[in-house]
Order: sequence, then structure tokens, then C-alpha cells
Amino acid sequence: MTDIIRYEHVDISYNGQLVVNDISFTLQAGEILGIVGESGSGKSTLLKAALGMLGRDGLVTRGDIYYRGLDLPDINERERQKISGAEIGMIFQQAGNSFCPIRTVGTQIKEMMAAHGYDNARLVEQETCEMFTKFGFTEPKRIWQSYPFELSGGMQQRVGVAAAMLLKPKILLADEPTSALDVTVQKQVIEEMLLARELFGTAIILVTHNIGVIRAMADTMLVLHQGKMQEYGPAKDILANPQSAYTQKLLAAVPKLRRSAAGYGQAVASCAS
Ligand SMILES: Nc1ncnc2c1ncn2[C@@H]1O[C@H](COP(=O)(O)OP(=O)(O)OP(=O)(O)O)[C@@H](O)[C@H]1O
Ligand SMILES: [Mg+2]
Repeated sequence: MTDIIRYEHVDISYNGQLVVNDISFTLQAGEILGIVGESGSGKSTLLKAALGMLGRDGLVTRGDIYYRGLDLPDINERERQKISGAEIGMIFQQAGNSFCPIRTVGTQIKEMMAAHGYDNARLVEQETCEMFTKFGFTEPKRIWQSYPFELSGGMQQRVGVAAAMLLKPKILLADEPTSALDVTVQKQVIEEMLLARELFGTAIILVTHNIGVIRAMADTMLVLHQGKMQEYGPAKDILANPQSAYTQKLLAAVPKLRRSAAGYGQAVASCAS
């Protein structure tokens, strides 16, 4: 099988200071990789590097990030704009923050789609409402006409995931997409991302502090500590039998899950951080 994205021996520095050190991993279509590690371990930096979002001080100083034959840190701004959103989507902790507060959701989605060449506003509205319906919204038209402040934080996050899927990206980079939400909405956002994978074969890189979310969603798992990879492999193996002392400590700090057949809803509810 071919890899959708491949990080090869990636080092990243800010102002000459190394914060990500020799990280390698791959994702195939539809695969979900969970990245865990303490605050400051370089998780967001790893995601930002794929989209050229490291800012003026950040630089990939070694290694490659391959996406369909392109080495992402090296592509020019035009290529990046074409890929960002359309092929590699991104969801942040508070998607609401990426909406402008004074324009409706619909207006902003129309602009986003027009920037990628979809300028038939009526068609965009229709497809967006269909996408909202697929993702379980019962009043798609109302969401389309709403200002972001008229939606709850959880709804904004779910709208953010649905909007990111309009361009059917091959990969979704999700940085703490459930952290700011209560457990019920966490579960809905997780279901939404799993549905995106099921409907569109989207691969997802998911950064989270919540081991319950990893347990519920991830096929593979990467444990970061101070910019270095502690462990990488099938999530269920690492969760059941962590090899590195750091991962053992990380997992030991998580409240024990009750044994249950209730699935991930229970898992998430039991160890929401
Ligand atoms: N723009 C920046 N300029 C300088 N240093 C930065 C910048 N962004 C991040 N850093 C540093 O890089 C390191 C990794 O940061 P990063 O945001 O990737 O961590 P993280 O694992 O996502 O943490 P958290 O769980 O708190 O979100 C940290 O030491 C951070 O201070
Ligand atoms: Mg972060």
C-alpha cells in the first residue's frame, strides 16, 4: 500500500533550538494516528510543519515530510495554498476561533470554497447543507445562516469538522479537537471524525491529551517526550503493553477504564481530561 504522508527523520527548531528530534512515521488512507505527549513535547509543531505554519522562527532543519511525492517543507507558497484545506485539512482545539465572529457561517464557507475554485454559491450552500445533514445536524439551513456566536462551542467544533470535510481532504490534522468540550460533545466530535474516515477514507493525525480518545479512535499511536519519539506502533499494542518507561508513566496516570462493552463512548466518558 502507498503512504499518504510520510515523515522521515524530521528535526524542527525554533530560533535554532531543536524541539522535534528525529521523528518518523507514515499514514495510509483511512488510518488514524494518535499523537500523545506532555505539554511542550512538540505535538502541534509536528502538525504545523506539514502545512508550513511554523512561523518566522520555526524551521524543519532535517528530514522530509512527503505527501504524494511532494516534500512539504520545500514546496512554494502557491503549491501550499492549493494543498492546504483541499488535500490536507486542519481542525484546531477551538474551531470557533477560526470563524470570523461578524460574518455568518455560510458566508465564510462560501469564501473558503471560492478560494479553492468552487464559486457557484448555490451549489456550495446545497453541498454544505448535505454535509451538515450527513454529520447529524437536524437544521442545516439554520447553521448555514448563523453567526458563530449563535452556536455553542461544541456545535462550532462540529461545524468546523464538517466544513473541513467539504473539500474532502486526504488527511485531516486534528490538534486537540475535543479538549475544550464536555464529554457528550467530545463523543459527537469523535463520531464525526470516524464518519469522515468511513465516508471519504480520510486519514487523520490526532493530537490529544486524552488516552480515552486514542483508545476510541487511533489505529496507530506515537508517544512524544521532549521532542523525541518514545514509542510508535499499533495503538492497541502500546496501550496494552507499553515498552518505554515514559509511556508506562503516561498510561499509569490515566484513570483506569471500567471494563465494558459499551465502546468508546464509555471510554471517553471514563477518562475525559
Ligand atoms: N512560535 C514559536 N516560537 C518559539 N518556540 C515555540 C514556538 N511554538 C512552539 N515553541 C516551542 O516549541 C516546543 C514545542 O511546542 P508545541 O506547541 O509543539 O508543543 P505541544 O506538544 O503541542 O504542547 P501543548 O500540549 O501544550 O499544546 C515548546 O517548547 C514551545 O515553547
Ligand atoms: Mg499543542
